[in-house]
Amino acid sequence: MTDPQLVLAERVQQALGTAFGPEHVSADPLIRPSQFADFQANVALSLAKRLRRAPREVAEAIAAALGAGGPDDPFSKVEVSGPGFLNITLSDAWISAQAEQVLRDPRSGVGRSTPPQTVVVDYSAPNAAKEMHVGHLRTTIVGDSLVRLLEHLGNRVIRQNHLGDWGTPFGMLIEHLLDIGEANAIARLEAGEGNEYYQEARAKFDSDPAFKERSRRRVSTLQAEDPETIRLWHLFMDATIRYFNKVYATLGVTLTDADIAGESTYNPMLAEVCDDLESSGLAVISEGALCVFPPGFTGTDDKPLPLIIRKSDGGYGYATTDLAAVRYRVRDLKADRVLYVVGNEQALHFQMVFAAARQAGWLPDEVSAEHIRIGMMLGSDGRRFRTRSGESVKLSDLLDEAVERASAAIADRGYDEATRSEIANVVGMGAVKYADLSLSHESEYVFDFDRMLAFTGNTGPYMQYATARIRSIFRKGDIDPAEVTGPIILGEQAERDLALQLLGFGTVVEAAAQAAEPHRVCAYLFETASAFTTFYEKCPVLKDGVDPATRASRLALCALALRVLESGLNLLGVPVPDRM
Ligand code: ARG
Repeated sequence: MTDPQLVLAERVQQALGTAFGPEHVSADPLIRPSQFADFQANVALSLAKRLRRAPREVAEAIAAALGAGGPDDPFSKVEVSGPGFLNITLSDAWISAQAEQVLRDPRSGVGRSTPPQTVVVDYSAPNAAKEMHVGHLRTTIVGDSLVRLLEHLGNRVIRQNHLGDWGTPFGMLIEHLLDIGEANAIARLEAGEGNEYYQEARAKFDSDPAFKERSRRRVSTLQAEDPETIRLWHLFMDATIRYFNKVYATLGVTLTDADIAGESTYNPMLAEVCDDLESSGLAVISEGALCVFPPGFTGTDDKPLPLIIRKSDGGYGYATTDLAAVRYRVRDLKADRVLYVVGNEQALHFQMVFAAARQAGWLPDEVSAEHIRIGMMLGSDGRRFRTRSGESVKLSDLLDEAVERASAAIADRGYDEATRSEIANVVGMGAVKYADLSLSHESEYVFDFDRMLAFTGNTGPYMQYATARIRSIFRKGDIDPAEVTGPIILGEQAERDLALQLLGFGTVVEAAAQAAEPHRVCAYLFETASAFTTFYEKCPVLKDGVDPATRASRLALCALALRVLESGLNLLGVPVPDRM
């Protein structure tokens, strides 16, 4: 354990035991960063209330039990201040020893989940037969960071791309495919024209009664799994998936075809899901539809809200599929935890599905099901993000534009064409991804190229630049960062601040995975890059006149900062160019 906050927490708890008896060792020591020392512990205030004693007196007793800070202690000084705060200063020797240890650790202080869990992560999940929107970009990017974090901690992660690949719209989509010709349809879908394709089909459906009738019949043959209809459905889906895969490859997202488990996967299970719920008495017929009424959900009129699992026409819906999916993920995939990285607007749906699945016994208490709510992407007008003409934005166009703009931003740096386009790709993707990740996932955010491509602030390009700059130090010195060992000496304040900051990486990664909040990693990396910038301004590394021991120590800090930034960005799925 190298994180100072955790180490101090443990020591303060021991001191609580010594001073006030073993029943107090589990109290939260309330360790916080402090203005006056490295950390402060505020536990004396809350404990004093419980003990009915003066807070300062309690603080003095804890300080006495902590001791003065011996050579092996993490702290060198403990002071009582104000109404009963404990100001704790870490010892320089401890910080440098810990930093050296993290430097020796190939995982840079990141532990492993014990025991490892099986985590199913449902993310991306665009719809092939509805509007495919930029919101799916965000569920894809946030989900991919979560799987990277969870995997890095040693969990068994199962990606599930719950594609919208089934339902009544496929009748008209298949009829449209026949109208425009298979080859043409395939070419257009592969090129990402799914939206226009959908709208054309929709327009005919609304205006042409014969087309509408054909589409209806096609839905029936599709549901009956007529071989020719299934062949056409596959043509449509395969071409669509080839487009999705292009977007995934551009983004550097880890999803593969093996992770696809679209809605259609669950078709064979839906009848059984309904039968089981009906025979256990959980599902009842209401107004012709088979419904579950999970307790605690009421509409505006105070009437219980139904989760419809079989419509009055016999068809199944989105909720039925999700009930089948939850059962499959727990029973067959053996999930300990299931994350659904999906838009905010589906919150009620997931609450009801989880509640019904718990009632049915398909989602036992020890399995955690979490909806990771994704806030909407907004345009500069504050409404759902669209193009100027009001169309939804094609994902591949958006990514192309990011790369073009990144290329313009580095135009004056004198790179040859090939290098420039390579860097622009990495910077463009990094900017888009980092912008999605750096805000808390549930907040709405305004899609703004200028802001995400800025080279200052908590942005992808800034983080990439900070990382590339450290690489260039090693390149200039012709030194392999992997060979650098220190020892680390903390002479300057900026060296001490940087070393202390670098000790927190493991805790942040664990907390981000636990809370399913990649933005915590962004915030930490931004602080790290800032601490590095201050250090680099104040503390020359390779300059003439720096004595060898200082140089070795500073190189060690550079190497550790580089590894933490690289591995943190990798966990976010943000690529780093060699130079920028
Ligand atoms: N395809 C859905 C949509 O675009 C998201 C699916 C999310 N996953 C799930 N298990 N329901 O809204």
